[in-house]
Amino acid sequence: MNDFVKRPALALLALLLMLAPNIARSAPMLGEDLFKALGCRGCHLAGGSGGSLGPALDGLGKRLSPEQMRQVLTVHRETSVMPSYDHLTEPELATLRDYLQSL
Ligand code: HEC
Repeated sequence: MNDFVKRPALALLALLLMLAPNIARSAPMLGEDLFKALGCRGCHLAGGSGGSLGPALDGLGKRLSPEQMRQVLTVHRETSVMPSYDHLTEPELATLRDYLQSL
């Protein structure tokens, strides 16, 4: 490689390294982070801590299918105190479901 080719390549690499932390920050939040950020633990016991207004979510993956979890999160029932999370994006819902499935 001559210098003419190498320099822009190095400049690009430097730029990518500078941007890397920002890319990492804007990447979709992990399911557990979402769970915390959305305040689910305020009402649900999960992994040993949380509230008791809603049912404990440990072992949820054995009780509900991914589709049922999606319904619980996005379809609000009149009689429920649980808020609807239908404003979440598809990737966020999928990440959250994966986390719930792992409990
Ligand atoms: C204000 C309290 C409250 C908050 C906040 C809340 N929930 Fe709930 N959740 C409930 C209650 C109460 C139920 C029981 C069923 C019902 O009333 O709808 C429930 C039911 C559920 C169920 C079904 C559990 C089962 O065993 O069938 C899941 C899954 C669930 N919540 C997940 C979540 C997640 C994930 C979040 C955060 C994104 C969340 N909840 C936030 C109160 C809450």
